[in-house]
Amino acid sequence: MKLVSFLATFVAITSARPEYASGSIPAWHPAGPGDLRSPCPGLNIAANYGFFPHDGKNITEDIVIKGLGDAYNVDPELSKILFKSGAATNPEPNATWFSLAHLRRHNLIEHDASLTRADAYTGNNWKFNPQKYAMTRQYWTEAMVKPIHMANARIQADVNSKAFNPEYNFTSERQLQAAAEPAAPLLVLGDRKTGYTDRRFVEMFFEQEKLPYELGWRKKEDVLTMDDLTAMTNLIADKISLFSE
Ligand code: HEM
Ligand SMILES: *[C@@H]1O[C@H](CO)[C@@H](O)[C@H](O)[C@H]1NC(C)=O
Ligand SMILES: *[C@@H]1O[C@H](CO)[C@@H](O)[C@H](O)[C@H]1NC(C)=O
Ligand SMILES: *[C@@H]1O[C@H](CO)[C@@H](O)[C@H](O)[C@H]1NC(C)=O
Repeated sequence: MKLVSFLATFVAITSARPEYASGSIPAWHPAGPGDLRSPCPGLNIAANYGFFPHDGKNITEDIVIKGLGDAYNVDPELSKILFKSGAATNPEPNATWFSLAHLRRHNLIEHDASLTRADAYTGNNWKFNPQKYAMTRQYWTEAMVKPIHMANARIQADVNSKAFNPEYNFTSERQLQAAAEPAAPLLVLGDRKTGYTDRRFVEMFFEQEKLPYELGWRKKEDVLTMDDLTAMTNLIADKISLFSE
């Protein structure tokens, strides 16, 4: 499978980033009144810790580079690419910032058949949805969540939306994006090569939008590059099939 198509138009030049020791555990505060959140658990988490503005507003390229570096050790070059797709959801032309609410706009980055959010057709397309999550969660059948478990959950989410959402909109490009999304938590929480991740870490990430510091997780010392994301995306995408091999 090829690289995630919505990222593929940009060339990633990966560069080394100085590694810094992980200091004390940052304070976590979920969204309060007036704070904006998005369909993206990874960015909501960044805001919950103050790695992004806690109110979810005015997120610039510099904030994304620093915030995703501090939260997850994302390579600045990858952060720049992700920022571009985020800024494109701000309806202002050539915007230099976005808010977490912009990311809810349907059929831009946000799409049907999410793992933990309802389809726009059925209602709220951005808030954590316990029913959708329960359908995904049942495929995490082992103590370690593996790429195949995310692939199975993706198949289920697709067929569920295809069957019941008359406005279902999903394409092969979307399928690659939708494989890249669950690749991200496996990369930041689990083994960079195999993707195997302690299921309790994945649960805390999605259910509470919290990093599993209290379970012993720490930010990885290796930067997370576009190559890492591509490789993990392919591990998942290659298993999005109903064949046994
Ligand atoms: C600037 C960077 C990023 C942007 C603009 C972004 C944007 C988005 C958006 C709009 C969605 C919703 C797609 C849908 O409809 O399901 C999404 C989903 C997702 N994102 Fe992000 N994201 C970014 C970075 C990250 C990071 C760093 C992580 C993990 C550490 C992450 C993890 C996820 C996951 C797991 C989903 C799937 C949620 C689901 O299917 O229910 N994202 N992202
Ligand atoms: C900050 O974001 C708000 C909307 O969330 C917007 O109205 C305002 O113009 C932004 N400010 C700057 C300086 O970009
Ligand atoms: C946005 O950028 C494009 C190309 O960089 C430019 O042609 C266009 O005039 C810009 N639009 C605005 C409203 O600034
Ligand atoms: C389906 O989504 C694509 C983006 O992936 C969008 O361009 C298209 O307009 C959408 N189709 C409908 C019918 O909304």
